[in-house]
Amino acid sequence: MTAKQTALRELPADLNRERLPKHVAVIMDGNGRWAKRQGLPRILGHRRGVDTLKDILRCCKDWGIKALTAYAFSTENWGRPLEEVDFLMTLFERVLRQELREMMEEDVQIHFVGNLNALPRSLQTEINRSMEETYDNKGIQFTVATNYGGRQEIVDACRAIATQVQQGVIQPDQIDESLFARHLYTSRVCDPDLLIRTSGEMRISNFLLWQVAYAELYITDTLWPDFDRTEFHRALCAYQQRDRRFGRV
Ligand code: FPP
Repeated sequence: MTAKQTALRELPADLNRERLPKHVAVIMDGNGRWAKRQGLPRILGHRRGVDTLKDILRCCKDWGIKALTAYAFSTENWGRPLEEVDFLMTLFERVLRQELREMMEEDVQIHFVGNLNALPRSLQTEINRSMEETYDNKGIQFTVATNYGGRQEIVDACRAIATQVQQGVIQPDQIDESLFARHLYTSRVCDPDLLIRTSGEMRISNFLLWQVAYAELYITDTLWPDFDRTEFHRALCAYQQRDRRFGRV
């Protein structure tokens, strides 16, 4: 942590603790461009992106935010060059293996969402281990979307509900928003209040399509590896200035 960030270890005084988002979601974009600007291979941008993610997770804990969800790999990301995909899979696995002890010490409950069956076996093993071991942790809910697609999540929920209707477990008129949400991958965590996207792209990119219905969006030109506590503070200040009406006047 830099000296500036050490100063931000505690919740900054200009933020209202009562009005913090309960759940922050992040689209961590710009790792490749960050690396290119430094004259480095793209993969080093991802490695640096992990350091950023670790500090933002710790920052959420330090400042009293109870849930963080990060978009690590979309269903579309398989279209990247094979060596980059391989690097990312190995990186996820290594990070999980290396960070498990610290997640236990810091009371982090990690949860993965997405089509996990299509991931390499050894990664699935680490994912399952980390989810099982951290299951009872209460400090912060950390969700990692991996091989995740928002439309696919909605289709999967429809399928599960249709099967229950077919089996006579529920009647069609019992299907409402709350029942639907309980069939999403994210049923354990509340909807995000704030969605941050780095690197200036103005898109949702198939991320948490149902869940971000009323989230406040914060888009910054900063590339993900440069997104630090100062930037996060700025995002939270912007969030606290928003008037959240949820469709009301
Ligand atoms: C987007 O940048 C970033 C990714 C596709 C990968 C993000 C993954 C991590 C930071 C690792 C997370 C690890 C764990 C275990 C939770 P980009 O490559 O699209 O950047 P570009 O738009 O500049 O090309």
